[in-house]
Amino acid sequence: MAEFTVNPWEVSGAIDYDKLIKDFGTKKIDGQLRQRLSDDAGEMHHMLRRGYFFSHRDLDLALDDYEKKKGFFLYTGRGPSGPMHIGHLIPLVFTKWMQERFGANLYIEVTDDEKFLVKQNMKWEDTQKYSYENILDMIAVGLDAKKTFIFKDSEYVKNVYPLLLKVAKKTTFSTAKAVFGFTDSSNIGIIFYPAYQVVPTFFENKRCVIPAAIDQDPYWRIQRDVAEGLGFYKTAAVHSRFLPPLTGVEGKMSSSAADTAIWLTDDEKTVKNKINKYAFSGGRISVEEHRKLGGNPDIDVSYQWLSIFFEPDDAKLKKIHDDYEGGKMLTGELKQILIEKINNFLAAHSEKREKARELVDEFMYEGELAKQMWKKQF
Ligand code: TYM
Repeated sequence: MAEFTVNPWEVSGAIDYDKLIKDFGTKKIDGQLRQRLSDDAGEMHHMLRRGYFFSHRDLDLALDDYEKKKGFFLYTGRGPSGPMHIGHLIPLVFTKWMQERFGANLYIEVTDDEKFLVKQNMKWEDTQKYSYENILDMIAVGLDAKKTFIFKDSEYVKNVYPLLLKVAKKTTFSTAKAVFGFTDSSNIGIIFYPAYQVVPTFFENKRCVIPAAIDQDPYWRIQRDVAEGLGFYKTAAVHSRFLPPLTGVEGKMSSSAADTAIWLTDDEKTVKNKINKYAFSGGRISVEEHRKLGGNPDIDVSYQWLSIFFEPDDAKLKKIHDDYEGGKMLTGELKQILIEKINNFLAAHSEKREKARELVDEFMYEGELAKQMWKKQF
């Protein structure tokens, strides 16, 4: 069995997602739950249909609450350690869809503290710069300004410090060590940090639903240990798989391996060069062989990216799949489809990103939800 690692600070190897469900103690999103979520939402998102959101905690209970008109709220986040790449958009795009479909409030935590503490060479000033840059990317996804509150940990801390202490007091070092693998050389800041990632799950007196990739689940285990003792709901979560890096279907696209990622700010030429040079191909060594034997979409990164993100239309995706597998479509042609999709997407994104500069204050301080949140003391 191949070795793999999944935790909030490292994802590597050939990930066995079924094994993760067992190891983490989460549940599979089965056909019935997927249908129920889609019925309540009024449509099925392609990331659900294709199994990219594959695991959950208490999603059934959150849907009970929705069906009983109590509702739920959404929470997700971003650690501003650098520019954002397209992998980071997977949970965000799904979160936006849930916000739209369920009319739910959304809280986005920007963890400048976490990234400062966890990255050895990260300067405080850089976390502040990236926080702003990342917030532009998140707003560009199209979130609802009236129903979204984006906050930076170092700023909002004054409103949550008492609750943060209550969470920290209930979490022992031995639990944190077991969940996160802290050692004697971990700095004491990062040992305290997980309490802050738990706090937003208590922002409303409703169940919280967290869309994120499964690397963030260890935090929800701590949350679920302490929630009821503090008089809150255990959080629900929906977990996605990882968008693979350019270089192969193992591991995840990561900020620490720059050439394996497409940044949201990459220009057309860079995208083209990166895909042509690095995108791992499931094609054969020669055109003749490829025509004869066909390619393998399962290990072809371009195909995988189309499937996860860039080609929501099932019929079009199937045609690409079959043409490639049947040898009719060559790797270069497949890459060209992806390059065009990404460049179209990024052109639209960068326009929205520019407009987002004017919306930052609304999301963080002046929108309806933001204003309420700055008045609250937890
Ligand atoms: P961060 O900044 O590492 O990641 C942000 C979000 O992107 C997801 N993600 C990916 N999803 C798919 N494919 C990938 N290749 C990929 N890489 C990253 C992460 O799972 C995450 O959802 N500690 C958090 C910040 C945070 C947070 C939260 C995240 C605070 N509260 C609540 C989710 C939910 C972090 O550093 O995320």
